Amino acid sequence: MKKMPKKKSKKIGVGAGASVVRDEARFLMNTYKRPPVVFTHGKGCYLYDHRGKKYLDFLGGIAVNALGYAHPRLVRVIRREATRAVHVSNLFHNPYQGPLARKLARWSGMERVFFTNSGTEAIEGALKLARLYARQKTQGAGDKTRILALENSFHGRTFGALAITAPAKYREPFAPLLPGVEFVRFNDTADLEAKFDSTVCALVLETIQGEGGIFPVSEAFWRRARELATQHDAALIADEIQCGLGRTGRYFAYQQLPGLPDIVVVAKPLAGGLPLGAILAREPFAAAFSPGLHGTTFGGGPLVCATALEFLTTVEEENLLANIRARGAELRAGLTKLAAKFDFIRELRGEGLILGLELSVEGGPYVTEALRQGLLINCTHDSTLRFLPPFIISARHVNEFLHKLESVFTKTRRPQKETSPAQASGASSSSAHDFALTATR
Ligand SMILES: Cc1ncc(COP(=O)(O)O)c(C=O)c1O
Repeated sequence: MKKMPKKKSKKIGVGAGASVVRDEARFLMNTYKRPPVVFTHGKGCYLYDHRGKKYLDFLGGIAVNALGYAHPRLVRVIRREATRAVHVSNLFHNPYQGPLARKLARWSGMERVFFTNSGTEAIEGALKLARLYARQKTQGAGDKTRILALENSFHGRTFGALAITAPAKYREPFAPLLPGVEFVRFNDTADLEAKFDSTVCALVLETIQGEGGIFPVSEAFWRRARELATQHDAALIADEIQCGLGRTGRYFAYQQLPGLPDIVVVAKPLAGGLPLGAILAREPFAAAFSPGLHGTTFGGGPLVCATALEFLTTVEEENLLANIRARGAELRAGLTKLAAKFDFIRELRGEGLILGLELSVEGGPYVTEALRQGLLINCTHDSTLRFLPPFIISARHVNEFLHKLESVFTKTRRPQKETSPAQASGASSSSAHDFALTATR
């Protein structure tokens, strides 16, 4: 009888796990504080560590793994494309950029697309596009180069993105940054009006601030931003890297606000965990680019684009927007009940599957206890617990999450340090639980 091949274990063993942690400590640059857990694989909404312990994942790789782990439709496409051409230079066509751009245009209401490798690279390209458009409009004459961004923002780690990221802790160590950037107080229309004039080429904002603690931009602020951008022929740039592509229960968070942005940037979930971002733009802005002015080696290769196309098609065919809205409502109801029970819960913010629970104490110890109990969440801005589960969660996962979180709240010793509200507090400080905080970014 033919011997069946032995199924390979996905565990790497406790000893191997320890040596991974040792090697990292010795050979990696010191940019992250990680707990001593090595995740070896995942299935659906669960991750497994090197000991085989199972975790319910309500962080989703920080809004990346929108179809969870090893989703059969993505696995099929990745396998297929791996046997064809993983990379084809952007000097040539590949079969997937066109169809993917068409679908993104339909989802977003934008007209043209440029593919990148990450969120921060999409931001850089969007800033270049806005500057270029303004330069062409003014024929290089007037000084239309100023960029407005919002306080409490996060747009990425490269120099342009850092320059429009407000908290000092990200920016100051790397100064001087791109000149000509000014920050507007969050949702403060009067401050926006005072700073917006004809020298502005772009206003960049996260439709829902993510790293800043899940703060949605108000309708009044957005409306005025749209009016002022139109009046001064500047680009209104919506950073939907964290909140876009379905997470709110709409394709884009701005779709419940009046009018469209001029440029939209996306990344995180776009290729289901593979690195892919995109700049989407209305035609008048997109038309500023011509060959040679912008480019990338890796962005938009066939493997990542085919996977992204499958991701978007799966969201459509499996009616995931409806699932996001239904599960989001269940989560909100459950979290509201918890808020009535635990007096250190200050506020619940967000919608769909981008939710933040602001505490009046530091959140790190709760994240640590959650990890111990097999639940992955994170804390941003010292005191906001952030939940970004996959779009495929079921009512059963929501129940499991709520039970686990309640147990975490009950079993964690209440931290002594009281915190001030996230929007008022500005930059966060470090703590012994830093791995749970923004240092993970
Ligand atoms: C709103 C927002 N913009 C930009 C970025 C940067 O994206 P990336 O880490 O892919 O460069 C992030 C990452 O967290 C983000 O949340």
